[in-house]
Amino acid sequence: MISLKELRVGVIGCGWIAQSAHIPAYVENQRSRLVAICDVNEERLKKVAMKYKGTRLFSDYRELLESNLVDAVSICTPTATHSKVAIAAAENGIHTLCEKPLASNLSEAREIAEAVSQSKIKFMAGFNYRFLPNHVKAKKIVDTGKIGKPILIRGEVVAPGPYRPDICEEDRPYEAEKRIGAFFDLGCHIADLFLWMMGEVKDVFANFATHVDNTTVDDTATALLKFRSGVLGVITVAWLHLPDYQAITDNRMIEIIGSKGKVESELFGPSLYFYGLDSITSKIMGKVRITPVKLDPRLPDEAMKWSYKKEIDTFLECIVRDKEPRITVDQAIDALKVIESAYASAKTRSAINLE
Ligand SMILES: NC(=O)c1ccc[n+]([C@@H]2O[C@H](COP(=O)([O-])OP(=O)(O)OC[C@H]3O[C@@H](n4cnc5c(N)ncnc54)[C@H](O)[C@@H]3O)[C@@H](O)[C@H]2O)c1
Repeated sequence: MISLKELRVGVIGCGWIAQSAHIPAYVENQRSRLVAICDVNEERLKKVAMKYKGTRLFSDYRELLESNLVDAVSICTPTATHSKVAIAAAENGIHTLCEKPLASNLSEAREIAEAVSQSKIKFMAGFNYRFLPNHVKAKKIVDTGKIGKPILIRGEVVAPGPYRPDICEEDRPYEAEKRIGAFFDLGCHIADLFLWMMGEVKDVFANFATHVDNTTVDDTATALLKFRSGVLGVITVAWLHLPDYQAITDNRMIEIIGSKGKVESELFGPSLYFYGLDSITSKIMGKVRITPVKLDPRLPDEAMKWSYKKEIDTFLECIVRDKEPRITVDQAIDALKVIESAYASAKTRSAINLE
């Protein structure tokens, strides 16, 4: 067993998610030491290195993985590159946390799973929303029967995607295509939460639209899901920049309606709302707001930071304690199956059966 402080970590891809989540979380964590960073963009690499002095710099991920410098890596490169980096990490015996979505298609994802199964590494997929305390609590409320038998699950998100203010207008088509599409980019988080909370999906029927100029990828999407349990699900996603958080808060929600009540969990955290027919509190107060960890509900960015810290801590812990990763490669493949089926459904204008 590896002892505390001994995990030497590298981060591959030093863009937005690496700088805002992975790198700071590894630097802060007691179990890890950031020893190497890698990016094909050398200018960006040097800029990040100025902030994290003492790290070794690599412009080729293979050299980092073969260097014997790291025990674990985060893959924070664009989704289309995940499979080649993840397979090389597995072949070199390097524990891996791979950003979501797992890969740009199922066949690449299965190649990752095969490489992981041939190795002894711990491989975790980066579905950080699972670590938001409100979603953990929502799942617990559902699992303990407090809303009765689940009937309907609805997930909705409006997020900037390529409309993020730091992305200039002429880069939007590239940024949209890099994300493969809004349903790929955002829908995968909701699909993963749905699978985690409701179990296996049976059928998918989807419809997509494109509004971003000069691109063909979807920026608005709806998908109807039927779960094996009989629960029906709806996923709605859109890329749109509405800067006032309060103005769009209702569009960032996971809602579960059961035979005896309802849970609404803020997609970006930190709160959830509960109403239960059998709950005395509900009888007195109606729908109750719960914020499980004392995060400021007006500052959802804090909740997101919390989720990344928890995700990275869980990844490091599964290596140190030799435990099964919380989000396995197979679970990430299940989310991708839902996503790919939605694209196939939108293309063929028919429902796709996943069984
Ligand atoms: N968990 C979340 O909520 C969340 C949020 C944002 C992004 N992501 C995921 O993180 C990944 C990266 O997204 P981003 O927004 O940080 O993108 P980004 O474009 O800001 O950063 C990606 C970086 O990877 C570098 N890169 C590209 N190919 C490389 C290679 N072969 N080797 C080394 N470096 C390479 C690029 O130069 C760039 O600096 C994507 O898979 C995305 O879906 C997840």
